[in-house]
Amino acid sequence: MLLARARPCVRPCVRLSSRPCARRYSRAHYDEQLVYKFASQKINPVTVGQLLKYRRLPLSRENILDSVAYSQAELPVRLAKRVISFHNLPFIVGTNPHIARVYELYYDAFDRLHAFAPIADLDAEWDFTCALERQTQMLADVIPVIAQGFLECKQYMPRESRTAFINDLIRSRIGLRVIGEQHVALSYQFRSTHSPAADDEPWVGAIHTKLRPARMMEQYASLVQNMCEMHYATAPSYYLDGDVDETISYIPSHFEYIACELLKNAFRATVDFTAKINRSSHPPIQITITKGDGYVGVRIRDQGGGISKENMPNVFEYSWSSVMSASSADDSSLSAGASTMAGMSLQTNLALQQGVGGPIAGLGFGLPMARLYAGYFGGSLDIVSMEGFGCDVFLKLRSIEGSAIRGVLIECDPDAREILLQLNSKEKFIIEDLDSTHLFITASHLKRVQAAVDKEFESTVYEVDQPAK
Ligand SMILES: Nc1ncnc2c1ncn2[C@@H]1O[C@H](COP(=O)(O)OP(=O)(O)OP(=O)(O)O)[C@@H](O)[C@H]1O
Ligand SMILES: [Mg+2]
Repeated sequence: MLLARARPCVRPCVRLSSRPCARRYSRAHYDEQLVYKFASQKINPVTVGQLLKYRRLPLSRENILDSVAYSQAELPVRLAKRVISFHNLPFIVGTNPHIARVYELYYDAFDRLHAFAPIADLDAEWDFTCALERQTQMLADVIPVIAQGFLECKQYMPRESRTAFINDLIRSRIGLRVIGEQHVALSYQFRSTHSPAADDEPWVGAIHTKLRPARMMEQYASLVQNMCEMHYATAPSYYLDGDVDETISYIPSHFEYIACELLKNAFRATVDFTAKINRSSHPPIQITITKGDGYVGVRIRDQGGGISKENMPNVFEYSWSSVMSASSADDSSLSAGASTMAGMSLQTNLALQQGVGGPIAGLGFGLPMARLYAGYFGGSLDIVSMEGFGCDVFLKLRSIEGSAIRGVLIECDPDAREILLQLNSKEKFIIEDLDSTHLFITASHLKRVQAAVDKEFESTVYEVDQPAK
């Protein structure tokens, strides 16, 4: 009897074992052993407890030293893991100048941050904070560079591996930014002469504890509407309804990214479809806010013609865009300078989109990245399309405060991870999707999750008859 594939496993976390590989990037000061040493350490998930630990204001010196100790322990480990992930790319992909540039940025960030001695006073903390802020800014714009790199190397890597690499990179980037920006914001808050001691201060570092989704949606819809006017010389109107006074604890920059990407899609689809069917005017875009238990739902409803059944499976793929396929004869033309939105070059497109809901446009990164952001704190993003009519996009964001539940870190192999992600789309238990082998899930789900993986495994394992002798 042969088993069709190896048994997937889920187990409470043990050390990540990174496969040693040949060094490909020559750097005079590169210390491979050091990077592996850091990369082999365990990641500590970003917990709600950690993020909201310093709720009580004013912040004390001890709070800041405690916060910096967490960043100092955590960030070099996460950065080293990213550096190693670049090593595992196929050789030819690693030599692409865009990908190599991002690799350099990650290595530099690792190199600078790991070198700090343990921080015991506020001067050293401030030096670290400044370095951290600089590194966070340096890494802020890596996504378009990576997108360009993978467009150029599409043919050298299977789609699944490419997707897995980009997912891991973006997911880890979110984690790095959450930790980094949270400490930087706390450090500024601590030094701010206006730092109020009042209990009603809504900011805890980078988290806004009274974020009003309706107000945010209003603001970004107006922004995207202007952008649409500039681009197409016309734009649909929009309106908000539902629980417009609802608030959540969330990181505004995450909300902004997701909202802008979804709104850009809705506005663009509406204008395109109006031209296609020759409508006399654009139907408005409806934005509905709903209140749930510990989360807020946002539905964006457009009449932009929807997504066809054939295209639906692709819309969450990186680098898949109907805009591209319309302007590019075939996939092979998707290289540097390929035509994208409205026939502009990729670089022009990126330059134009800098700062508006993230720097990506026409690259097919909007939806997959928005879904990663939404899922980071246990939320979700789903699309229902009515072909020939329009789309309903459902965004569910779990309040960071509301997600204060006991979690457990698990290590799982790629097969098990796939099963868990599917399961998670039905019943939410993933608190943080850390990387390709680690998930942080609600503790109460651990047994159920193991049972579900076993069950799924049993149903997909089949016996192969031995040939008759
Ligand atoms: N509301 C929508 N209506 C119709 N089609 C949509 C809608 N949202 C997404 N799509 C389809 O999904 C594809 C992928 O969307 P995604 O946001 O990931 O990429 P993009 O909009 O093409 O480029 P980018 O967002 O990177 O600027 C789009 O090209 C479009 O075909
Ligand atoms: Mg988009």
